[in-house]
Amino acid sequence: MIIAIDGPAGAGKGTLARRLAAEFGLAYLDTGALYRAVGVAVLDAGGDPADAATSERAARTLDLGLLDSPRLRTEAAGDAASKVAAIPEVRAALLDFQRAFAANPPSPCTGAVLDGRDVGTVVCPAADLKLFVTASAEERARRRTLELRGKGFDAIQERVLADMLARDERDRERKVAPLAPANDAVVLDTTDMDADMVFDQAVTLVRKKTIADL
Ligand code: C5P
Repeated sequence: MIIAIDGPAGAGKGTLARRLAAEFGLAYLDTGALYRAVGVAVLDAGGDPADAATSERAARTLDLGLLDSPRLRTEAAGDAASKVAAIPEVRAALLDFQRAFAANPPSPCTGAVLDGRDVGTVVCPAADLKLFVTASAEERARRRTLELRGKGFDAIQERVLADMLARDERDRERKVAPLAPANDAVVLDTTDMDADMVFDQAVTLVRKKTIADL
């Protein structure tokens, strides 16, 4: 079972993906963390995330140990991530790792949940279930601000909203693997839903899919 979850920043993809993975015994890959790690590696080396050669090198030599670092969660890391993510060579360098994870999830899992921007369209186009999780920009900024404050960062909601809108636009407008729902994705607008409601709807969709495949 492979579940692909895509959507814009702050829509609740990560929370949903983690809970679905736990519920169905699947492995979880936060594909955004890969782009964030590349962005942070470039910034740490004093480079420009928009520079193709520098960012491709960082993607090809990525230290996977960085993926759990709290430093990846800052808005600066998100901003750098969306710049490196627009570079086709960076996307190509990260694609094999993502596909290999989905095809051979870490034991004992026999399936995986991946979340990101192009999981249903590019990384796993044959995923068993594709969800596109979205919400209004204001609600996404509100949630992201609370999350950042919860992690001890000093976040101002207007600033978070502006950063998020700039990042969404870059993600939607880029030429390679832009943010968009796959044709066969189920769109979940979570603006007026809490995390439990989103989870319940997604669980119902997974069960329906599992029964349909029997
Ligand atoms: O999901 P998250 O906010 O951590 O992603 C950070 C950035 O990484 C996104 O804004 C996007 O530019 C990029 N990304 C992507 N493709 C993915 C996952 C993330 O381009 N599959």
